[in-house]
Amino acid sequence: MEGAQGKPLPHRDVKHAVPPPVACRCRGAPRGAKWTREGRVQEPVRGPIWPGPMAPGTAPAGDGGARAPEASADAEPASSSANFRFPPGFLWGAATSAHQVEGANILNDWWAWEQAGKVATPSGAAADHWNRYRYDFDLARSLDHNAHRFSIEWSRIEPEEGRWDEAAIDHYRDVLVALHERGMEPVVTLLHYTLPRWLSEKGGWEHPGMERLYERYVVHVLEALGPHARWWITLNEPVVQVFKGWLIGQWPPGKVRAWPAALRVLRAMLRTHVRAYHAIHSLRPDACVGIAKHPLALSPDDPTSWLDRWSVAVRGHLFNHLFLEALHTGALRVPGLFWENLPIRRTLDFIGVNYYTRDFVRNSGYNLPGLVGEFAKRDHRQQRGKLNDLGWEVYPEGLAQFLREFSRYKLPILITENGIPTSNDDDRWVFLFMHLWQVARAIADGVNCVGYLHWSLLDNYEWADGYGARFGLIEVDYATQERRIRPSAWRFAEIIRRNEL
Ligand code: FCB
Repeated sequence: MEGAQGKPLPHRDVKHAVPPPVACRCRGAPRGAKWTREGRVQEPVRGPIWPGPMAPGTAPAGDGGARAPEASADAEPASSSANFRFPPGFLWGAATSAHQVEGANILNDWWAWEQAGKVATPSGAAADHWNRYRYDFDLARSLDHNAHRFSIEWSRIEPEEGRWDEAAIDHYRDVLVALHERGMEPVVTLLHYTLPRWLSEKGGWEHPGMERLYERYVVHVLEALGPHARWWITLNEPVVQVFKGWLIGQWPPGKVRAWPAALRVLRAMLRTHVRAYHAIHSLRPDACVGIAKHPLALSPDDPTSWLDRWSVAVRGHLFNHLFLEALHTGALRVPGLFWENLPIRRTLDFIGVNYYTRDFVRNSGYNLPGLVGEFAKRDHRQQRGKLNDLGWEVYPEGLAQFLREFSRYKLPILITENGIPTSNDDDRWVFLFMHLWQVARAIADGVNCVGYLHWSLLDNYEWADGYGARFGLIEVDYATQERRIRPSAWRFAEIIRRNEL
């Protein structure tokens, strides 16, 4: 077994395999924030000490040609708030997923979806990360990242049913070695939405053999790569995938309001995770296994309406808690509607959190769809924060809210995604700082948060939204594949270096 520096990792009980929470030295973070009846954290009286606008960073020597940000005339030197220290061993870095950065993933269902003209822009060469990963990791290292999340593309490993491509396995082994060589802890996602085409043609998540086929793939990967990684994510955002693929038809397989199928798929995902959890632990007993969960902050459109508030609670339970709760308790429960026991409970060693935004909810009736309510997108009555380039509200308080809510499971929490699509890098810096402030607040209140991985390391292919959304700490020129480190990334690097906010 190898650790981050290529040294052998001791086999430890998984509960101790992640950095323990430490007593924080927090002077500035407000404690004991109140909760409103809608479940929102009330704004603290005192805000964060803003370290100032973007200041020019310095490109480290030998950064492989990535350009340092240029000093702008109005840039001020950064002052340091230096009032919160993150726990020692905190994981700092960024995340990507295979289909969004590798390029030419021609054997999966998303490629077929793109070729069928279901989205405006096909992924094509993406960020060509398949060929440039070493260079990209050099850049991440120059930004002081000590961890990195990426995903393995199943369709490359098993291009046809039962045929394993050893060259693809070797590639991912090299990726893992490259991370270790640069002192970065790998966090490996085994399935980030995309399925091999041969499997999707058989029904994909609705195929009765899905659980078995996924387990076989996981065993194959773990036998080959298990010694090189300790952190494993079985599924990325299962509830989002069901929502987009079976309820609104935006992603493969493109079904709309297919409620019974959606529920079947959700159950299949739960059972699939349970199987994978055991497969991973049987091959790497000290593994930390989790899912990446996407919680969406919700507020009532009309806070004085108990029906809107009730809808927030129902939608929040279904979207934000149901899946985690099922894995934790071993039972999938929708009160009055559904109850199913899983083979076993407590199949999470950590919770991955992908947090982005908030939506307003309006009740639309007394039956289940009415109680789930509808999103009040444009005509909501509440004031909301700034919108990013994809129209999502910037709402940092939601991150602390979920860090607290998920603490009820008494598991380490790793922020596996958090980022902003924006063409304005000052906005990215503000976003980063405000969200890290919320992480600090939560840790100060006792939340066991063990790391923060920003979405994303590189600009990338944002699914149905194509290439317009710029999420990267590193800008990618898609015509030349040239990389340019954004100023916000250097500022993030300063925080990482000090391990302090
Ligand atoms: C998350 C996905 C990730 C990326 C970001 C913006 O929901 O996991 O692939 O698309 O959103």
